[in-house]
Amino acid sequence: MAAMEKYKQFVVTLTCAAVMATMAVIFVLRWVLHFKEGLAWDGSPAEFNWHPLLLVCGFIVLQGLAIIVYRLPWSWQCSKLTMKFIHAGLNFVAFIFAVVSLVAVFDFHNAAKIPNMYSLHSWLGLTAVILYCLQLVLGVAMYLIPFTPVAWRAAFMPIHVYSGLLLFASVIAVALMGITEKLIFGLSNPKYKDSPPEATFVNILGVLLVVFGALILWIATRPSWKRPSEQTLHTLHSDEESTRVGPALSELSDEREGEAFGETRRRSNKLEDQVN
Ligand code: HEM
Repeated sequence: MAAMEKYKQFVVTLTCAAVMATMAVIFVLRWVLHFKEGLAWDGSPAEFNWHPLLLVCGFIVLQGLAIIVYRLPWSWQCSKLTMKFIHAGLNFVAFIFAVVSLVAVFDFHNAAKIPNMYSLHSWLGLTAVILYCLQLVLGVAMYLIPFTPVAWRAAFMPIHVYSGLLLFASVIAVALMGITEKLIFGLSNPKYKDSPPEATFVNILGVLLVVFGALILWIATRPSWKRPSEQTLHTLHSDEESTRVGPALSELSDEREGEAFGETRRRSNKLEDQVN
């Protein structure tokens, strides 16, 4: 496929993901500010509202961005180390948002004398936040500490990628459960089953989150949209054509095709690039 065509497909997919993310943020803001009690930090239902807001903006949107940050062709002129700091930094901010959102809901429950940790949503949600913390710690230990052996980095990479994607998808599933619970608890007259405007509005928020998740997972699992290896980038930078992204993509797919035919040396160099 022509490099420019591939680039266009990437940009269209990314734009759709950005539109979904922006709309999800607008929808959750309108939900808590217009349909619900607004925002406060006083043990009232308005404190609970930080929970969906921070989780959608941080744990879903920022985490999604962190996942695809290496894929942005505009970032390929930055060093891999810089990109690793951006990836880790975004994930760290997402984690902080998740922790503050949990403090908000526990605080609200305690003030209103509602039991904690009784629902499936709360079990899976807390598990996701704990595992996300573990993913962050292991990611920093493996890929940001310079002494970690390259062989360990390479061996751990498939696990890091798999668990990162699994956590992202799980967090969206947990959010959908939370949204549904809140609509069932919160709507009394008319009820959820009577489809008041809030119910329809928030159902759409759920759909936006699913589509956003699907697009991020698509972007993250396209091999031909991956950041080229450092060697390939180096070659491109020293080439006059290197200012254009199209050639980078085509060069990348050439390299992958080469690999398929067993260019062992190139593959092992690339392995080091990817994990370093
Ligand atoms: C996106 C990831 C999410 C995670 C990790 C998460 C995690 C949690 C946790 C651990 C609790 C238990 C708090 C306690 O027992 O005091 C909780 C409660 C709650 N969450 Fe979420 N949540 C998420 C998203 C959402 C969203 C988007 C909503 C929508 C409003 C929501 C609605 C609720 C509700 C209604 C409760 C109280 C009832 C219950 O404990 O199930 N959650 N959440």
